[in-house]
Amino acid sequence: MNEFDASSYLAAVVEREQTLLQAADERGRHVYCLSRAWAAELAGPEVAEILEEGRQPRVLEVGCGVGKAVEALLDSNPGLQSSSVVATALNRLDEHAALEQRGVDVRIGVIAESLPSDFRGQFDVVMASVVMQWTEPDRAVPELYEALSPNGVLLGFDTRPDVARVERVAAALGMVNALSDEVKAQWEMPDTNMVPFALRKG
Ligand SMILES: C[S@@+](CC[C@H](N)C(=O)[O-])C[C@H]1O[C@@H](n2cnc3c(N)ncnc32)[C@H](O)[C@@H]1O
Repeated sequence: MNEFDASSYLAAVVEREQTLLQAADERGRHVYCLSRAWAAELAGPEVAEILEEGRQPRVLEVGCGVGKAVEALLDSNPGLQSSSVVATALNRLDEHAALEQRGVDVRIGVIAESLPSDFRGQFDVVMASVVMQWTEPDRAVPELYEALSPNGVLLGFDTRPDVARVERVAAALGMVNALSDEVKAQWEMPDTNMVPFALRKG
């Protein structure tokens, strides 16, 4: 792999994001940040199963936008402690203060291609909702894989070609599909070409 300079890559993606956010009106800003809670529905059964085992799941959302998935996951799983949840974002948004007040660890300026070393092996669930399309999957997927605990799951949504790229890199790492055909069919979104993915660390 070529030399990768994480700080100049971060500066470039933050500049792109700031340009997008400045150009957007309030509605556009929320469309970009999406306010989607979908990933929480995919992550819910994983979180519930770990809680049933009597363990506290550790959850990371990378590229959390305004944090709706994290909020929805906490709301729908009362046993999940907010102190077990980490959310990363490139830019600080007003909404992140509300997440922090709930006890979520919000890390600003973290790119999927270069995660902090304290993330290694930490997370049972990593959510990446409409984020992988903005990343370099050859670098981002191995980083997210490293953040997973044994048997942990990387899941989220993206466009079909982006999911295919993620799955290709994940397969080379030995990750296996964790989505049933039934769940895949349930999330078919032909109008946006968006599909779910869930990949388990072997
Ligand atoms: C379309 S928004 C999705 C936000 C949120 N996950 C959701 O579904 O509502 C894309 C997000 O990806 C983040 N992002 C873009 N490039 C990234 C990168 N290289 N690493 C991590 N996050 C990135 C942006 O900051 C932005 O919040």
